[in-house]
Amino acid sequence: MTIDGKVRKTLAELGVADVAGVDALFGEVRATMERERSSLVARVASSEGERDRLAKNFRDRWLARKNGLLTQIDEHWLKSSPRDLKPSVGKSFNALRQAATALEMDVLVKDVGFKIPPKVAAAGAAEIRGTDLGDLTLPGYCRPLGSLHPVTQMQREIEEIFLHLGFRIEDGPEIESVYYNFDALNIPESHPSRDDWDTLYINSQTVLRTHTSPVQIRAMEKYGAPLYIIIPGKCYRHDNPDASHTPMFHQIEGLAIDSDITFADLKGTLDFFAKKLFGEKVRTRFQPSFFPFTEPSGEVAISCIFCGGEGCRVCKESGWIEVMGCGMVHPLVLRNGGIDPEKYSGWAFGLGVDRFAMLEYDINDIQLFFQSDVRFLQQF
Ligand code: PHE
Repeated sequence: MTIDGKVRKTLAELGVADVAGVDALFGEVRATMERERSSLVARVASSEGERDRLAKNFRDRWLARKNGLLTQIDEHWLKSSPRDLKPSVGKSFNALRQAATALEMDVLVKDVGFKIPPKVAAAGAAEIRGTDLGDLTLPGYCRPLGSLHPVTQMQREIEEIFLHLGFRIEDGPEIESVYYNFDALNIPESHPSRDDWDTLYINSQTVLRTHTSPVQIRAMEKYGAPLYIIIPGKCYRHDNPDASHTPMFHQIEGLAIDSDITFADLKGTLDFFAKKLFGEKVRTRFQPSFFPFTEPSGEVAISCIFCGGEGCRVCKESGWIEVMGCGMVHPLVLRNGGIDPEKYSGWAFGLGVDRFAMLEYDINDIQLFFQSDVRFLQQF
């Protein structure tokens, strides 16, 4: 007779009349319980749902209040046991009940091998990591390596050329005073660049710098002459974004101050620079222009690097691409920087790094640089 049959009968009906018989009977129950538990734990279920169901069925078979095996043992063996056997049956029954805690759902769930018991999952991944190392033979996570932004790459390339010529790198604040950004550079109150529509004002005396030129004055004050520096940095203008404008862009300023510096030094240096950057075949063209802080001022163009000067879509059939402004530092600007224009002269230039990067990498929309699209950026 199986245990299921036996629990429906009384001890008397089973012929158990002494302590040894009681022990043997309970021993059989314990062995059955343990066998069933082990085989359930060893079983492979196809899903967590199935495992839950198996564990619940097993638990109910033994512990259900109404018809579980333990309830029947209580009913048929303990309650109706003869007086002399009662202490022995009671003791065995209590021990059985205690052992039966191994059949409770959460213990079973752990034993049948749920990888993430629901409680732990709720406690968060950190706890799992602390308790479960996972499969150590799996390959590790591989995070993609980033690279320098194309504008940064361009900036470094330009810096490198000037560093080799003996220039030093200088920088200054992006939030700048109206004095350094305009007045010290001889840009009068009436100049259009000072208009609200062109400049991002923090307050009436403070702006987001519209160019890197204010660092000319700061460096002159700091180091005096002679001075050979380049100044890379972010600039801001009240521009609507389009294919060639962004409200934030990058410039590199160049400044050379020494005794006997002439326009020929400026031309020679910038021609050397253009050839270093774009190749020996590139020619430079200087045309007169105007900036309040240089006199004379010039606009520098390079022969088109796409068509070699023949004329194409990029150079708008002109054969030339304008790349920067330049000029001899205005004597008033030298004086504002604390340098005697009778003793020293200098030249300066300012170029847009983003525009250079567009030329170098053949990109037709400046917005692409600042949209953080990895598909675009990972090409560089
Ligand atoms: N600061 C000027 C600009 O932003 C460029 C420039 C710099 C021109 C130095 C001449 C000399 O347009």
